[in-house]
Amino acid sequence: MKIPQDKIDEIRSSADIADVISNYVPLRKRGKNYIGLCPFHSEKTPSFTVNSNLQIYKCFGCSAGGNVFTFLMEYKNLSFIESVQEIAEQYGIKIEYEEEAFNKQQDEIEELYDINLVAAKYFSENLFKKSEGESARNYLEKRRLKVQTQKIFGLGYALDSWDSFLNLAKSKSIDLDKAKQIGLIDVNSTGGYYDKFRSRIIFPIFSPNGRVIAFGGRIFKEGEQGAKYLNSPESKVYHKRSALYGLYHAKESIREFDKAILVEGYMDLISLYQNGVKNVVASSGTSLTDEQVKLLGRFTKNIYVLFDADAAGQKAAVRSIEILLKENFEVKVITLPEGEDPDSFINNYGKDEFAEKVKNAASFFEYQVEQLRKAGKLDNVNDQTEAIREIVKNVALVKDVLRRTLLIKSLANKFGLREKLIESELEKIVSPKSERIIKPSLIEAEKQVVTIDEVKRIPELEREIIKLLFEGDSEILGLILDEVHDDDFTVEGFKILSSMIRSEFAGNKNVTTSYLIEKIENPKLKDFVEKLLLEDDPISKKMWEEYTNEIVLRNNKIIFAQDVVRRFHILTIDKTIHTIQNELNAEKDQSVITELLQELDALIKEKASLRNQHENS
Ligand code: UTP
Ligand code: MN
Repeated sequence: MKIPQDKIDEIRSSADIADVISNYVPLRKRGKNYIGLCPFHSEKTPSFTVNSNLQIYKCFGCSAGGNVFTFLMEYKNLSFIESVQEIAEQYGIKIEYEEEAFNKQQDEIEELYDINLVAAKYFSENLFKKSEGESARNYLEKRRLKVQTQKIFGLGYALDSWDSFLNLAKSKSIDLDKAKQIGLIDVNSTGGYYDKFRSRIIFPIFSPNGRVIAFGGRIFKEGEQGAKYLNSPESKVYHKRSALYGLYHAKESIREFDKAILVEGYMDLISLYQNGVKNVVASSGTSLTDEQVKLLGRFTKNIYVLFDADAAGQKAAVRSIEILLKENFEVKVITLPEGEDPDSFINNYGKDEFAEKVKNAASFFEYQVEQLRKAGKLDNVNDQTEAIREIVKNVALVKDVLRRTLLIKSLANKFGLREKLIESELEKIVSPKSERIIKPSLIEAEKQVVTIDEVKRIPELEREIIKLLFEGDSEILGLILDEVHDDDFTVEGFKILSSMIRSEFAGNKNVTTSYLIEKIENPKLKDFVEKLLLEDDPISKKMWEEYTNEIVLRNNKIIFAQDVVRRFHILTIDKTIHTIQNELNAEKDQSVITELLQELDALIKEKASLRNQHENS
């Protein structure tokens, strides 16, 4: 079933984003925007911004952003098509569907989800309905999981057989190659298919929206060979680096309490949940990734790290803390008695003891001090200096200045040191460069910038141009795309954006902001553009004011755009002039010098002519 692209465009442009969102989120007007409390993370002061002109929204707290479709997809867990349908219905637009598949890629992914769902239902029936499932039922009972809990997490059982899922797949005409892609079956050396999950307890892994994306299977019978857990491979629906086990079940509770507990294992998470601790996610044994942390950051910035009380668990905890601090999490650590993991702890000690543990959680650096003390690293002055350095390294990761200052104070207290001493230690680590971080999202895109004094303003102008492009005024788009080439941008990400807009504009004269936003594939760039468009950008404001003061009577966007492009050209010329000047200084060969001087002359004339245009306009 396909909705024609024209129709999607029509529906997108008929909707008023402020109308749609205010059905779900109370909004009030502020300036040209609407603001409200963000529905995607918990907050007390509104940082969720909706702009009716551009038809986009952005939360400056958690970075959620997009157009009217994205909002419904995220808020109501709808697919893209469902969100288009919902808006169409609300605005009384009739959709005529086209026959053929709406998108091959999308279709294939849907098929993979479908196969996973068939498998999940099948495993679950084995566990709850089949006589062969008895040993698995007994095992889970021994592990103290109630049937209700097992059902909430969709647990299942893979029969002790080489072909029972395979046969089901065949009977349902499932594409076996696709089932293989997602790791449900595999091929042996003679080319025959066989079941991958055999004689295991099955833990389905859900996407944040509750779709089955993968499975973990645990062996449970005495004397069984093989890895304790078998996990689905990376696939088009399962991206290990960004999947967080349990998030789907935990997200409401994480939002409600504005904190999450991070555990290692499937069983840990399920046990805590059964005991009423629902704001839990699991890293599933692998070390926590940036992507997982960013995902979680959309729900809360407060985390309790709760890993197994063994050496591996503690090592993993230390690594996770660094990643969490980098993403501005407030990190606490809960430690368990030797030999326990969260699952065994809550079953052996009960809920109240667990709550007590959470209440007494240590700040990440108290925890670190404790670890160092245990390792005997605080016993003599030499080691102690080294140890403090270790801790300061983590303090340096905290971007929030206020929080960092508080940490320095507690650290100084703890060791009876002067704050100045720690600060100077900190300064050695925090290079002046990383201190420059004002808008973290800009940094990635700006990395490529040539930093010559004379051309410092290029990124500002480039940013301004990108902003103008995304505002989607077709006259301005035409003007800029004619005058500025993709390769003129010094920032790599801007080249990508400009080339994307160029091809969209070539095919579709009606490009709007909300349309263009949808087309940005790279999430970092998308976040950057959304912020750029909605942020009360001091740079842009300054330039605009400067400009309007100059020619008050002509303060219109088109002239502004022309001027920005002209300034950009002038600065680009400056950059080349600068390079040539350097070459001249180093050059000995008279004929080359003459050539360079001619080139320089031409550039200076071009620059003067651009300047004149400016004055005459
Ligand atoms: P654990 O070995 O701590 O297992 O691995 P567990 O979760 O406590 O399970 P039980 O209590 O023994 O049943 C922690 C996590 O690491 C991943 C799994 O996600 C597991 O939940 N893991 C572990 C694997 O992926 N493969 C393995 O072979 C082992
Ligand atoms: Mn365990």
